[in-house]
Amino acid sequence: MPERIPIASDHAGFELKQTLARALGEMGFEVQDLGTSSAASTDYADYAHPLAREVSSGEVKRGVLLCGTGLGMSYVANRYPHVRAAVAWSPEIAELARKHNDANVLVLPARFLSDAEGVTILRTWLATPFEGGRHERRVEKIEREEHP
Ligand code: RB5
Repeated sequence: MPERIPIASDHAGFELKQTLARALGEMGFEVQDLGTSSAASTDYADYAHPLAREVSSGEVKRGVLLCGTGLGMSYVANRYPHVRAAVAWSPEIAELARKHNDANVLVLPARFLSDAEGVTILRTWLATPFEGGRHERRVEKIEREEHP
């Protein structure tokens, strides 16, 4: 069964979301498009919450969000337990977000990326495994309430 990957954006990320959704489909994933469905002005939080809930509950392993800067989407997604949403503006950041931070939500700053850059970042994030080792301990500490 193909892995289901949810993807969502606001109006600023709409065009790139369409491109990335198509690319995900071509790669063989089951794409769950959670909106928005046009370039009409809308609020990023309305799209980040449903996607983050799915990742947080473990219904899906990973998801993709887009807005103008990536910031609003990441603020919302990172409020959910077990969600590690990384804003990535280059393939190198996407690679490190996987290797070191085990990022399970990729957030793209759509106003600052071409379609080709977006697809390359997405491919890199999808293909890069978590390195584990010393990073395991660091990632585990993210959700610890008590401070040493
Ligand atoms: C929308 O204009 C813009 O503010 C939004 O896409 C995003 O960049 C927010 O963080």
